[in-house]
Amino acid sequence: MPLDRLTFLGLRNLQNMDMRPSAGVNLVIGDNGSGKTSLLEGIHILGLGRSFRTQHLKHAIHHDSTALTLHGRLSGDPPFPIGVRRERSAPESTIRMAGEAVTRVAQLAEALPLQLINPDAFRLLEGSPASRREFLDWGAFHVKHEFFDIWRHVRRALKHRNALLRHAKMDRQTIAFWDRELARYGVQLDELRTDYMKSFLPVFEETLNELLPLSGADISLRYFRGWDHKRSYLEVLRDAQDSDLQMGFTQQGPQRADLRIRIDRRPAKEVLSRGQQKLVVSALKLAQGRLLETLTGRRCIYLIDDLPAELDAGHRQVFCHWLERMRCQVFITSVERESLQKLWQSSTPRTMFHVKHGCLIDQE
Ligand SMILES: Nc1ncnc2c1ncn2[C@@H]1O[C@H](COP(=O)(O)OP(=O)(O)OP(=O)(O)O)[C@@H](O)[C@H]1O
Ligand SMILES: [Mg+2]
Repeated sequence: MPLDRLTFLGLRNLQNMDMRPSAGVNLVIGDNGSGKTSLLEGIHILGLGRSFRTQHLKHAIHHDSTALTLHGRLSGDPPFPIGVRRERSAPESTIRMAGEAVTRVAQLAEALPLQLINPDAFRLLEGSPASRREFLDWGAFHVKHEFFDIWRHVRRALKHRNALLRHAKMDRQTIAFWDRELARYGVQLDELRTDYMKSFLPVFEETLNELLPLSGADISLRYFRGWDHKRSYLEVLRDAQDSDLQMGFTQQGPQRADLRIRIDRRPAKEVLSRGQQKLVVSALKLAQGRLLETLTGRRCIYLIDDLPAELDAGHRQVFCHWLERMRCQVFITSVERESLQKLWQSSTPRTMFHVKHGCLIDQE
């Protein structure tokens, strides 16, 4: 469901913003420092409870404010309101959905599936495996309802096992208990991720082929589960106990899973140009949105920061064409109006917003 109303108070330089976005393409234009990225940041906080710019949400509160308050409304009958508020002095945010207090951020994520494409997103290929795991888990979370519970069990078992290892408490019985817990849920998590990747792969290949035809090149995207695939995870954990104890943490498992993209058997980040890497990441993110719709009938919302700076004109066009075909809600920013307007078919509904010194000045 698209957002049809956004009101932000005390978010960075957006002290008091009221926006009625369209269900289709929302073009956000403004000079450097006007507040475009902050607007996307606000939507991101509404969808995930956290910012993509800072680890500490209080840094996103306007310097002169004591709190930030963000409201979004998902269109529908009845409409579905979401609110996130963070006081400067409070350790955590308060979240409300449809008038009820919410304790789990996962509930926000479920209501508002978001895909962010910004300059940092383009580091997906060369950055740490954690960002690729997050990408993979976004997909599995949104299409497999049991994912979140299993993921929490894995996290809990790992936390306990690692605490024992860190304090060198080799109480064999207790560690054996957590080995079994971790193996049980770790294997289930791996199955969900494997299943997701099976559905994802053909969609990704099709999207990438249009965005970046690498004629004749052999492109492979492979999922690595985090332990030797020929052995049972429980066996791996038992055998690794001594060496894990030496290291002070669990060395193998779903917490080490990764995605590996290779072009003609070489890592993509070593072979592709910067621009080509951006196209691969764009294809990954578009493919996730497409698959979400195929499997669940739900569409995600795309937040795209400064697209013209990231892709050349031809590729921008193909990229936007995919967004049009997917008919999802898009928020896309740029410093110049022209480069964003030419990208769409005349039939695609779009609204242009101007941001100036933290205010939305008009709308076309
Ligand atoms: N906590 C804060 N309180 C008030 N203003 C802030 C805060 N944090 C950042 N700002 C200011 O908010 C303004 C908007 O920043 P933002 O990154 O959203 O701009 P932008 O339109 O995306 O610019 P660019 O085109 O350069 O990317 C900046 O001038 C910045 O200095
Ligand atoms: Mg910006």
